[in-house]
Amino acid sequence: MNVLDFSARKCAGEKISMVTCYDFWSARILNSSDIDTLLVGDSLAMIMHGYDSTVHATVDMMATHIAAVRKGAPGKFVVGDMPFLSVRKGLVNALDAVAKLMQAGSHCVKIEGAQGQLDVMEHIIESGVPVMGHLGLMPQSVQAFGGHKVQGRNKHAADKILDAAKSLEQAGCFALVLECIPADLGKLITQQLSIPTIGIGAGSHTDGQVLVLHDLLGMDDSFKPKFLRHYLCGNASVRSAVNHYHADVHAGLFPSAKETYA
Ligand code: KIV
Repeated sequence: MNVLDFSARKCAGEKISMVTCYDFWSARILNSSDIDTLLVGDSLAMIMHGYDSTVHATVDMMATHIAAVRKGAPGKFVVGDMPFLSVRKGLVNALDAVAKLMQAGSHCVKIEGAQGQLDVMEHIIESGVPVMGHLGLMPQSVQAFGGHKVQGRNKHAADKILDAAKSLEQAGCFALVLECIPADLGKLITQQLSIPTIGIGAGSHTDGQVLVLHDLLGMDDSFKPKFLRHYLCGNASVRSAVNHYHADVHAGLFPSAKETYA
């Protein structure tokens, strides 16, 4: 898949699947899977580094993970997240951040928000870097939202998100992530835009879906928001495998003669 395939998929009515990926070993697995595209999301600050929000992701942190993913998944389109405030520190700093992510191996950048930064986004796009937008619940603004809450529930808020979506299309974004908004709003935006929408908690009418890999694998069995489906009991499976190994070591059953150099 390349950047042009996104709108081609929308035209053909074919869905787009996207999943987060942060490291080399999972990138290798995903490279051999059918998934359409990989997102090195700034959620890695939480999932990989244990912070309580995505505001702790830095440009260098993103570049390190993007490089690992690109090496592990040379056959996949890689989306790299621009981290907290990186497009708000002036054009030169924004372009330096974009350069780091692209040189690390990203095929495009994803940027949260629209208002107050459309000129910077347009400049990035005119500089030859494809930009994916991100509206609805924007985790980098979680403090302003008063928590991880569904956005666009009333008419005024919904209109604001729709207007922002149109302005991102106008600015030249090639696709748009919609996070945690009512399904009707996800449908309306998807119908009104010519660029594809990729939803997470935005209902089934968006042109594609994205999930955090660790969430869909059920690695944290206590995390089960309404929009999430666990495709594996990852937490229990990993714990059981490690406990099995532990028991074998204690019982002297590992390593066996076959696993021992003569
Ligand atoms: O960082 C991330 O994982 C994301 C997805 C939730 C879309 O932006």
